[in-house]
Amino acid sequence: YNYRVSRDRRAILEYLFTGLRRLEYRGYDSAGISFDSHSVAPELGTSSFLDGAVGNGAVLPNGDKPAAVLENGNASLVSTPVVIKASGKVDVLVKLAYEEAIKQGIDLEESLDNHAGIAHTRWATHGVPSATNSHPQVSDAEHRFVVVHNGIITNYKALKDFLIKHGEVFMSDTDTEVIPKLCNYVYKSTPEKLSFYELVLEVISKLEGAYGLLFKSAYFPGELVACKRGSPLLLGIKEEEAARPLQSSPMRRPNPGASFEAFIASDASAFVEYTKQMIVLEDNDLLHLARGTYAIYNVSKDEPGAAYGSVSRALSTLDMEVNSIMKGGYDHYMQKEINEQPDSVLQTMRGRVKFDQKPKAMDPSWDPYHEKRITLGGLVDRISTIRSGRRIMFIACGTSFHACLACRQTMEELAELPVSLELASDLLDRRAPIFRDDMCVFVSQSGETADTLKALEYAKERGALCIGVTNTVGSAIARSTHCGVHINAGCEIGVASTKAYTSQMVALTMMGLALSEDSIRLRSKRNSIIDALGVLPDQIREVLKLDAEMLSLAEQLKEEQSLLVFGRGYNYATALEAALKVKEVALMHSEGILAGEMKHGPLALVDELLPIIVIATRDRMYQKMLSVVQQLLARGARLIILCNSGDSEMKEICASGGSRLIKVPETVECLQPIINIVPLQLLSYHLTVLRGYNVDQPRNLAKSVTVS
Ligand code: G6P
Repeated sequence: YNYRVSRDRRAILEYLFTGLRRLEYRGYDSAGISFDSHSVAPELGTSSFLDGAVGNGAVLPNGDKPAAVLENGNASLVSTPVVIKASGKVDVLVKLAYEEAIKQGIDLEESLDNHAGIAHTRWATHGVPSATNSHPQVSDAEHRFVVVHNGIITNYKALKDFLIKHGEVFMSDTDTEVIPKLCNYVYKSTPEKLSFYELVLEVISKLEGAYGLLFKSAYFPGELVACKRGSPLLLGIKEEEAARPLQSSPMRRPNPGASFEAFIASDASAFVEYTKQMIVLEDNDLLHLARGTYAIYNVSKDEPGAAYGSVSRALSTLDMEVNSIMKGGYDHYMQKEINEQPDSVLQTMRGRVKFDQKPKAMDPSWDPYHEKRITLGGLVDRISTIRSGRRIMFIACGTSFHACLACRQTMEELAELPVSLELASDLLDRRAPIFRDDMCVFVSQSGETADTLKALEYAKERGALCIGVTNTVGSAIARSTHCGVHINAGCEIGVASTKAYTSQMVALTMMGLALSEDSIRLRSKRNSIIDALGVLPDQIREVLKLDAEMLSLAEQLKEEQSLLVFGRGYNYATALEAALKVKEVALMHSEGILAGEMKHGPLALVDELLPIIVIATRDRMYQKMLSVVQQLLARGARLIILCNSGDSEMKEICASGGSRLIKVPETVECLQPIINIVPLQLLSYHLTVLRGYNVDQPRNLAKSVTVS
């Protein structure tokens, strides 16, 4: 959205395309865009902004006359927004949009200083990926109302039936299409002329489900309405005044003549290079941009039907650098993110782990029991509450769930509490019992995963203490939990999680350490883990040197149909996570198997052809894993063994069998999964490239699963 900032149409399109490219990781099966074919002079804003000053002769509070198109009390269309949509990646849309603009005689160089454009990249929930089903969805051929939507409208069938009965004709199979049609219906059936935000307010009061929505309208050119419930939405503001704190008034009116641009997106990466000033919209917020002003209204969820009140939202400064969302010198985000892990785990620990050991002589306040300390600012006040809880419950999805699994034993041993693990969707399906004295830890890279978020609401309703472990400051989970830890791994863009996984494990281990701080008995264990954390970044750097070896292993495995990964104890999670990576990005069947269950089924699959990775680093399970290796070798299995460097015993056992060894540095057993996963991430990366699949956007998958 720009007001009194001259941008030519091409620049506006490029803004939108850049945003889409940045958000492509959230969905990429089709994309669309809407912009104006005619310019709208800033003095001809069309809405009666500010609380219903509508109709003949109305004068806006700032003395401006209302829209020329409204002066006879009736709005008429001044322009039809252009809508261009394409199936496939954003680049397909970009090409098509320029071709279409030329075909339709739209001047790309025309300067527009009062313009609202919207765009969307889709990950299909209702309706196959196609141009028709992609967004924007429109009300009619005149594009009176144009809408993009992130989320899901659960009552769309009932709404669709109702609207069909009232003459609306549907073109797509999407749930979203009911929204612009409903706008049309409300517009036609409301006798008094509503302003744009009042109309949207009426529309969303009929919607059930989750949404982040943007509305554009032929009736209200140069205006934009955005609202959210359950799906994230951020407002980036670029104007001179933005550096100043928000006034108490929700109405923000830049100085006359001030340049004003606003960017609304579900993720800040869409606009980080233009502005760092941002407002995180809250559930039930409705944002109206018109005539160089923005206003935010909210109705509390607890008061259905309550009128929207204007609210002020704090302006925050985005802590993200453009570089962090670029590929740098790498070919793919996943590759970059794997290689960033020495630094990302360090960032997770920064300011939280005190490694120094000061001799008492130098520091009289030195406390021998606390010489190595973990300080988690977001949890300090809650440590004793958590320790007095009945159990710790880890709740997550996907890779984040694996991080929980990897750290369960650490948490059991350090916190000395029962620890249960829940996949968020399964917890909700079972409506599993949760009690007031349960300590629920919600782990989510994005902080937006729908099931994890719903599970959080479920646990909150039951009075449990809810702790968030996320990578996204300001995300729904970060905001809705009572306390928590940010993992600070930096922006993760590759759909398959890598650096967030290792940072989650570091964060959960630190949480365990913080919970054990009062235990003298656990002191030496705690100190050895803290020491090991200190050298972890260097060890990861070391293990990344296996890249060429993993590439050659991938060459060897690239034609395979299937790959099994065996692990147990701390490394059962490593087996599951490695298999998930191979499955989701390399599109090769892969299964993580608890080695203890080998004889209960998986052994039947073993032959000389099927490749099997066995994770057998030195920990309490080592002897058992040696025996697993021997049993597999006895059946002629084709093994790839991940073991510690200098493990001569393993080398000897494998000498005759022709097994391949992946050698990794040794650390304390609870941190070994962090090192072990790295070569397997590299393997899945190389397998994907060699098999010719898309690394960062695997088929059918999205990074943030914001619908259940
Ligand atoms: C999707 C992503 C995974 C991620 C999972 C959970 O499936 O593709 O990489 O692990 O969601 O996401 P969260 O953001 O909650 O960690």
